[in-house]
Amino acid sequence: MSTRTILTVFGTRPEAIKLFPLCHALEADPRFESRICVSGQHRGMLDQVLEIAGIVPHHDLDVMQPDQSLDALTARLLTGLGAVMDEERPDWVVVQGDTATAMCGALAAYYRKIPVAHVEAGLRSGNIHHPWPEEVNRKVIGSFAALHFAPTETAANALKRENIDPAGIHVTGNTVIDALHWITDRIDREPRLACDLAPLEKRFAGKRIIGVTSHRRENFGGGMEGIAEAIRRLAAREDVAMIFPVHLNPNVRKVMNDELAGLDNVALIEPLDYPHFARLLDIATLMLTDSGGVQEEAPALGKPVLVMRETTERPEGVEAGTARLVGTDADRIVAEATRLLDDEAAYSAMAKAHNPFGDGKATQRIVELLAAVTLPGSA
Ligand code: UD1
Ligand code: UDP
Repeated sequence: MSTRTILTVFGTRPEAIKLFPLCHALEADPRFESRICVSGQHRGMLDQVLEIAGIVPHHDLDVMQPDQSLDALTARLLTGLGAVMDEERPDWVVVQGDTATAMCGALAAYYRKIPVAHVEAGLRSGNIHHPWPEEVNRKVIGSFAALHFAPTETAANALKRENIDPAGIHVTGNTVIDALHWITDRIDREPRLACDLAPLEKRFAGKRIIGVTSHRRENFGGGMEGIAEAIRRLAAREDVAMIFPVHLNPNVRKVMNDELAGLDNVALIEPLDYPHFARLLDIATLMLTDSGGVQEEAPALGKPVLVMRETTERPEGVEAGTARLVGTDADRIVAEATRLLDDEAAYSAMAKAHNPFGDGKATQRIVELLAAVTLPGSA
C-alpha cells in the first residue's frame, strides 16, 4: 500500500492541543507521510504547545499581527495556506475545530480539490452570533469536508440534520481527552513540568482556588466587563482566590488589567503552558470560563464549570451535570459561584467526573479511519 500524505493545518492554542496527539500518531505510522503547517494565527500561545509536545512544523506562516481583524487575518491565511498546499500537494488536509485557520485551511484545500478531514466536527450552538465567528466557521467546513470526526453522537446527529452524507460521519470522541491524558502522564513522570504555580499555591494556602479564563470575541465590551465585575465581587470573599491566566488578546487584557489588577485575592498571570494549566485544573475547586476546551477538560476531571456564555455548542457537559451556562451578567455569575461555594450538596452534585467528550482513544480511531478511507480517484 502506498503511503498517504496528510497535511495537518493549525494555528491557535486549542487546535495545537487537540491535534498534537494526531501529529504524534501520524508521524509514528509508516502508512502516512505526515506534514505539518502552522499558520501562526497565535504566536506565543501556539509556541507553548509546540514546545511541550515536541512538534517542529514543516511550514510556519507566522501570520499573527497585534489585535488582528478577522478579514485581514482571513486574507493572509487563505493565500498563505493555499501556497503551502500547492507546494505539498497532500492527499488529505486535516483541520480541527472552528478557528479562522481551520476555516481557511479547509477552504484552500477545497479550492484545490484536496479532500478535507475535519476533527471535532458537528458542534453547533444554533446561533451564528454565539460563538462568533466560530459557529459559521464550523458550518463552512462541514459543508464540504469529506470526513467528519464528530466527538459525540450529538455532534454526529447535528451533521446528519444538515443532510451531510452519513458515510463520511464518524463518532471518534474528542482528541482533547487524549491530549489531557498525555499531559497528565507526562506530569506524573516529570512533576517539575508543572511546578511553577507553587508560589501562588503557597500565597493562597487555605483558600479555595477558582480558575478563570476568558477570551471570546462575542464577549468583548459588556460581556468582559460583566465577567470582570463578577470576579472582583467574588474576590471580596476571604475564603477564595482566583487564578486567572489572561489571554494575550489586547481586548481581554485591557479590561482585566483595568478592573482587577492589584486585588489581593486575584492573580492575573500570563497564559500558562499546558502542563501548568492542567495543574490549575487539578487544584481548582471550580472553573469560570468562556473557553470551549476548558468545558471539555473540566468534566473529565470532575471540576464544576460555570460557562460564561449565552449558548454552548458543547451541551454534553451541561447534560452530564458538570457544567452550567451562566452568561456574562455579573449578578448571575456571582450567584451561581456563591451557591457552589456555600452549598456542599450543590457542589458535590456537580463535582463528579464524566467523560462525555471521549475515552482518550479518539486519535487512534481517526488514524484508522484516515488509513482505511479510499483516496478519491483510486477506487
Ligand atoms: C482565536 C480563535 C478562537 C479561539 C481562540 C483560542 C478565530 C476567529 N478565533 O481567538 O476561535 O477560541 O483563538 O484562544 O479564529 N495574541 C497574541 N499572542 C498569541 C495569541 C493572540 O498576542 O499567542 C493577540 C494578538 O494581538 C492577536 C489577538 O490576540 O491579534 C487575537 O488573536 P486571534 O487568533 O485573532 O483571536 P483569538 O481571540 O485569540
Ligand atoms: N489552556 C492553556 N493555558 C491557559 C489557558 C488554557 O494551556 O492559560 C488550554 C486549555 O487547557 C484548553 C485550551 O487551552 O485545552 C483552550 O484554549 P482557549 O480557551 O484559548 O480556546 P477555546 O477552547 O475556547 O477555543
